[in-house]
Amino acid sequence: MNANPPKPDSYYERHIFFCLNERKNGEECCAQYQAQAAFDRCKMAVKNAGLSGPGQVRVNKAGCLDRCAGGPIAVVYPEAVWYTYVDNQDIDEIVESHLKNGKVVERLLTPPNVGR
Ligand code: FES
Repeated sequence: MNANPPKPDSYYERHIFFCLNERKNGEECCAQYQAQAAFDRCKMAVKNAGLSGPGQVRVNKAGCLDRCAGGPIAVVYPEAVWYTYVDNQDIDEIVESHLKNGKVVERLLTPPNVGR
């Protein structure tokens, strides 16, 4: 049983956006922390869990989300929960706990007030 049923008018239950921004000038950016690989991993994990598609979860690419100092960054809506992940285990936990069961992964939350 899903903990957070979608609103009747929402096409997806949740989106997760991954910042894939790359800066060529040497400034900090999520791309330097293997953000693309994390995005790919998340897409695969969501699909393998049977969570992708209308009424479920959409995994999206994003440009800079302006919280670079906490990077690499992903954010889940509609809850507006911001994550700083490190490795595949983190991605798998976000998928299993939050995207599948609606339970926020507290240990991966981006600290409040972290900006660019
Ligand atoms: S470069 Fe990823 S949040 Fe800015």
